Amino acid sequence: MSRADLIKPSATMRISERAKQLKNEGKDVVDMGLGEPDFNTPEHIINEACKAMKEGKTNYAPAQGIPELREAIAEKLREENDIPASPENVIVTAGAKYAIYEAMQVLINPGDEVVLLEPAWVSYEACILLAGGKPVFVKHSQDFRSADIEEFITRKTKMIVVNSPNNPIGVVYPFQFLKKVADLAVDHDLYILSDEVYEKIIFDGEHVSIASFDGLFDRTITVNAFSKSYAMTGWRLGYAVAEKSIIDRMRKIQSHSISSPTTFVQYAGIAALKGSQEFVRKMVEEFRRRRDFIVEGLEELGFEFAPPEGAFYIFMNTGMDGDEFSEKFLEKYHVAVTPGSSFGRNYAEWVRLSYATSLDRIREMLRRLESFMREESKVLT
Ligand SMILES: Cc1ncc(COP(=O)(O)O)c(C=O)c1O
Repeated sequence: MSRADLIKPSATMRISERAKQLKNEGKDVVDMGLGEPDFNTPEHIINEACKAMKEGKTNYAPAQGIPELREAIAEKLREENDIPASPENVIVTAGAKYAIYEAMQVLINPGDEVVLLEPAWVSYEACILLAGGKPVFVKHSQDFRSADIEEFITRKTKMIVVNSPNNPIGVVYPFQFLKKVADLAVDHDLYILSDEVYEKIIFDGEHVSIASFDGLFDRTITVNAFSKSYAMTGWRLGYAVAEKSIIDRMRKIQSHSISSPTTFVQYAGIAALKGSQEFVRKMVEEFRRRRDFIVEGLEELGFEFAPPEGAFYIFMNTGMDGDEFSEKFLEKYHVAVTPGSSFGRNYAEWVRLSYATSLDRIREMLRRLESFMREESKVLT
């Protein structure tokens, strides 16, 4: 058997491929399935990549990332996140996803258990399985703001994965919950993988990095990326920060797999961190406007959803089978959403809506959703 047989292809692909097919057939598809900002990368970042290319920064880079970018990242982590990082604690990766993959390869051995909070972003499970580990799904509490992790911790537990702001639920975990997770990690001698890719897209609450807690730096791998904050999903630029021996081992894997992230893209990363942050502020303002609009619309229609405090997702209960809902909504009403079953077994009636699309399209989605619900209730009565 191949290791790849342990994992499934991304369940979200089927819907997005069908949405593309419908678009190609000329249908007016509202795409609420997207997992990336609908903004272009800011001009000054693009210019920096062009400049670097023209200056000949087109050779191999050090496996751990260029020193100037690692320095800029460490500075950002110290100033914004209160994480005591120096450049030797930082590895630059091809997106957050590859940082997560490498961290699992380094820390998870066959049979080790890793706690995931369900619903969970799709790739954690695959990365754990590819490392020979066992994902242990722990359901969120009813209000989605915490989870009872302790009863799922065994002698084999090695790591807890935390993602705040969260994909798919959009929740920003309260400080008390993060502190509880940190205490559990200390009491049971566990690692924490803290995925903070949505840290800048927050409307309510405040971002807290677990690695900033006393004594937590040595057991936390903080993962972040330029993808969401600077609308740079296609550039493939992310990073991990952790205790040096973990980073050294991640570097070994990187040196024998991708070598390093693209050299001139790393220079653009410095421009993103050191340049004006006005773009981020405007993007977040726009996401907030959309969040407020969609929340009002869904409340009027009577839907239940997790509190959308950050990222750009709403996780909502459809009151019917989520796979069936997604399929019908796409085939009949041409709206693409992601079924909850993609994110865990216990949310079969839920779907994720991404509001990384214009207010006009969101308005159109709400109109079609209303028609869908009216039709459905006719079928049911
Ligand atoms: C929670 C979470 N982590 C990581 C990633 C991957 O980020 P990147 O594109 O930087 O690999 C995503 C992308 O959707 C995400 O939602």
